[in-house]
Amino acid sequence: MTPGLTLKTYEEGERNAMSDAMEIMGRAFDPAFGEAWTLPQLAGVMTMPGTWLTIARIDAAPVGFALVRSVLDECELLLLAVSPLWRGRGIGEALLLDSLRTARRRGITSMNLEVRASNTAIRLYEKAGFEYVHRRPGYYRGNDGQLHDALSFRIDMLR
Ligand SMILES: CC(C)(COP(=O)(O)OP(=O)(O)OC[C@H]1O[C@@H](n2cnc3c(N)ncnc32)[C@H](O)[C@@H]1OP(=O)(O)O)[C@@H](O)C(=O)NCCC(=O)NCCS
Repeated sequence: MTPGLTLKTYEEGERNAMSDAMEIMGRAFDPAFGEAWTLPQLAGVMTMPGTWLTIARIDAAPVGFALVRSVLDECELLLLAVSPLWRGRGIGEALLLDSLRTARRRGITSMNLEVRASNTAIRLYEKAGFEYVHRRPGYYRGNDGQLHDALSFRIDMLR
């Protein structure tokens, strides 16, 4: 694990945690693909029971986050992001594996996600055991209006 890395999970829409996530959001997502969320979107989903936000910090500085929403025994990885300067050091994988552990602890049996078809994050998801389910044409709209397909992935945690 990256030296100095800590992960902290928030279930309420704590302002500091949400502003840490928004700071990373602004750097991590290329506006060309329309994947980043706004603060009202994040704050809205954090009001829903069963949602959790995990912030990765190196020393005190936020470097990444994962956002998961669960309903009964299923959950969805809504967002996963690491600041560009901190990529390639296992932080994304640490956030993903922590999200899977948290889900299992809560009795959740499967995790779903959508990812842009051209996103290199697919390698990370496959490495963790996610399997391709189907393609969603035109799921993301970039800032130039161009549409980008998403792929759905799922991991069954009972297997
Ligand atoms: C996807 C993302 C979270 C990965 O974070 P990261 O901290 O760099 O990932 P890790 O260092 O933990 O990499 C873990 C594995 O993922 C794969 N991977 C991650 N980034 C990759 C890249 N750019 N190219 C190829 N494989 C990659 C590799 O298999 C890697 O394992 P390895 O180092 O053993 O080969 C980060 O690139 C990011 O924030 N991207 C922009 C936001 C985004 O698209 N999020 C996903 C959709 S919501």
